[in-house]
Amino acid sequence: MPGLIGPSDYSREPPRHPSLKINAKEPFNAEPTRQDLILSYITPVDYFYKRNHGPIPIVEDIDRYSLAIDGLVEKPIQLSMAQIRLLPKYNVTATLQCAGNRRTAMSQQLKVRGVGWDISALGNAVWGGAKLSDVLELVGVSKCTSVTSSGGKHVEFISIDKCKEEKGGPYKASVPLSQATNPEADVLLAYEMNGEILNRDHGYPLRVVVPGVIGARSVKWLDRITIIEQECQGFFMQKDYKMFPPSVNWDNIDWLTRRPQMDFPVQSAICSLHDVDIVKPGKIRIAGYAVSGGGRGIERVDVSIDGGKTWFEANRYQKTGVPYVSDDDSNCDKWAWVLFEAIVNLQSGNADIVVKAVDSSANVQPENVMSIWNLRGILNNSWHHVYVRSSAAKL
Ligand code: MTE
Repeated sequence: MPGLIGPSDYSREPPRHPSLKINAKEPFNAEPTRQDLILSYITPVDYFYKRNHGPIPIVEDIDRYSLAIDGLVEKPIQLSMAQIRLLPKYNVTATLQCAGNRRTAMSQQLKVRGVGWDISALGNAVWGGAKLSDVLELVGVSKCTSVTSSGGKHVEFISIDKCKEEKGGPYKASVPLSQATNPEADVLLAYEMNGEILNRDHGYPLRVVVPGVIGARSVKWLDRITIIEQECQGFFMQKDYKMFPPSVNWDNIDWLTRRPQMDFPVQSAICSLHDVDIVKPGKIRIAGYAVSGGGRGIERVDVSIDGGKTWFEANRYQKTGVPYVSDDDSNCDKWAWVLFEAIVNLQSGNADIVVKAVDSSANVQPENVMSIWNLRGILNNSWHHVYVRSSAAKL
C-alpha cells in the first residue's frame, strides 16, 4: 500500500503512557490499572488498552494512502482519506473488549495459552468516522443486503501489519455482509477516537469498529476491504478467538467444529479494589464496569460482600444527569459499558466481594470459571471476586 507500511521489527514503536501495565512488550500489549480504567466514562486514549499482534504500522505519506474495496462487487474502488472524510460522519460511543480480558484469572485455575490480562483489556471511546454501510454503497452494495448479486456474503478487512501467526502476513477478519450493510449495526470505518485523529496504536489512519463484538474483529490500519463468499479464512478467525468447551485440549482440538466468536457475553468487574486490600471497617466504595455484547444493555448489577450468599443492587450510570435505562437507545449508549457503584458497610474480618451483571436479555454471568474454561482462555466472564481484609488495627 503506498503511504502506509508494516514494519518487520519493533524499532519504530510509538510512545506510550508510563502507567500502563505491560503484558507483552513485542508485540505491545498493555492495559491500564484498575483505578485508572474507571476514572471516566470515556476512556482517555492514553489509558485505552493496546492489543497488537505485530509491530505498529507507519504512515509515510497520508496523501498517498488509499483504501481498496473490491471482491464480489459491481465496481471496485480505491478511496483516499479525503474521500472517506467527505462521507457523512458519525460518532459512535462503543466499548471495545478483547476476548482475552480476564485471561490471567482463568489460567490461574488451569493453564491456558495466550497473553495474560487482568480485568482492564477494554475501554470505552467515541469513535468518529464513516459508516461501513455508506462506504459499501459506493461499490454498489445497498443497505441491508445479505448477499451480493455475485454471491458475496462476508466483508473481509485486511490490515498491513506483519503478524507471526499469519507467517508474516497481515491481520485480517470479517463480518457478515448483513451486519456490514445494516446502518443500525453502526459498523464504522473510524479515523477519530475521542475527537482526535486516531493514534498509531489504535489504527491510524483508519480502522474498523464493530460495536458489540469482540475487539478482534475491529481491524486496525486498514489496507483493503474485500467482499467474499465465505467468512475470512485468516488465522485469527479460524485458529484463534473461538470458544471451545472445557473438554477440548491441545491434543483433541478440531478448529473446524466451532464458529469464530463474534458478540461478547455479559461481563462485569470490580475496579476499585484489589486482592488483598486492607481496608478500614465501615463504609467502602465498590465500583467497576458492566458491559454486554450485541447492543444488549445492562439490566442489573448485583454486588455481594459475603462471597455470593446475599446480594444487593449497585447504582448504574453512563452520563451524569441522565438516568441509565438498559433499553433506552435514544438516551443511553447501547454499545457502551455501564459504570456501577455501591457503598457498603464492612465489618472487620475477611470479605469476599463479588459482582455479577444481568443484561437486557436476562443473560447472567456464570458463577464458576471452570464451567467456562477453554484452552485459549477467552471470554472469562465468571463472577468477579475481590478478597479484602477489613482491619482497624492496620490503619
Ligand atoms: N488489527 C490489526 N491490524 N492487528 C491487530 O493485532 N488486534 C485486534 C484488533 N484489531 C489487531 C487488530 C484485537 S485482538 C483487539 S482486542 C483490538 O484490535 C484491540 O484494539 P486496540 O489496541 O485499539 O485497543
